[in-house]
Amino acid sequence: MTTVDVNASVKYKVVIGEELLCDCGNITAQAILPCKAAVISDSNVFPLYGEKVKTSLENAGFSTVQYVFPAGEKSKNLNTYSDIIEFLARQKLSRTDIIIALGGGVVGDMAGFCAATYLRGIRFVQIPTTILSACDSSVGGKTAVDISTGKNLVGAFHQPSLVICDTDTFETLPSREVSCGLSEIIKYGVICDKELFEELASGDYDIQSIITRCVEIKRDIVEKDEKETGERKLLNLGHTLGHAVEKHSGFTLSHGEAVAVGMMMISEISEKLGYGEKITERLKTVLEKYSLPCAYDITKKEMFDISCGDKKVDGKDITLVIPREIGKCILEKVTLEKFSDMLSMILE
Ligand code: NAD
Ligand code: GLY
Repeated sequence: MTTVDVNASVKYKVVIGEELLCDCGNITAQAILPCKAAVISDSNVFPLYGEKVKTSLENAGFSTVQYVFPAGEKSKNLNTYSDIIEFLARQKLSRTDIIIALGGGVVGDMAGFCAATYLRGIRFVQIPTTILSACDSSVGGKTAVDISTGKNLVGAFHQPSLVICDTDTFETLPSREVSCGLSEIIKYGVICDKELFEELASGDYDIQSIITRCVEIKRDIVEKDEKETGERKLLNLGHTLGHAVEKHSGFTLSHGEAVAVGMMMISEISEKLGYGEKITERLKTVLEKYSLPCAYDITKKEMFDISCGDKKVDGKDITLVIPREIGKCILEKVTLEKFSDMLSMILE
């Protein structure tokens, strides 16, 4: 078991290891006095792990209630949010009670946003059950839901009080979801950790140690720039173009797959601009090794129009994360006109 301490506006522990679910009640009780815990989960995860988590919490002195919504990105919207908030109010959850987010990034973002806003904010615990949520979304306090204009456009920064990552839960992940999680880990490698990238490239890695490494990288960035005014933007590598692809596909491409395509596209642009080393072929080999998509059929106009609805657009400018070499990326603020020219280099 490893523990990473995060010293953001809230100080909390990220506990990573095996067989943690049956002890999650005691681990939670070390951080939070027993109270009422609303377990929020989805229709795939709750049947697998819900009772184990509830029993462990109850054995540690918590009382529990649960809200389960249909699995998938399509549920990450204001309707589900409103249903959960009404549920929490009917259950009379108070300011001293907690929410437990049990699931992948969709559950974490949704339950986190409920925690950020219900009664103007209550504490919550993240129990990530996908590789993606373990290495990225459960840490750092970004919570959000999607609206028809774009992904994650309604949200809040709200740090969890504790993150418990039981790597045994990955055993039930469909192989596609394993690949999606590895996509975000490859992303960390391209941003700032060549060694991590090479571990993934070799296929010889230990899941607990690579998740710990990603959480440490994220911790270091979030502690310096919690509200994403600067360095944290680096974590968005592949996301501006990726979010557009994800939305264009009607969410048939998952987040991790879309990020893989987004990273490929921005690497191609970087190469065409003559920035740094040529990394596209190397990146493609590693993404393909994990059955991740490297291309997507979209026109330049579609990409431009959807991307302009993204959060990274600030007036007439957009901030892009551009790879220079494996392990080094830069932030570049460009005008929307220049962004359009950049897209013309790779799309028709
Ligand atoms: P997800 O939560 O939809 O999970 C993927 C699928 O796996 C779902 O069908 C889910 O029910 C299922 N699942 C989850 N755990 C399982 C398990 N242990 N066994 C079997 N099935 C399981 O998707 P995700 O890839 O975890 O997360 C993607 C979401 O995370 C997106 O909405 C994205 O925007 C968000 N995200 C947020 C941040 C952040 O910082 N807040 C960062 C990255 C991504
Ligand atoms: N996933 C990007 C971030 O948390 O900033």
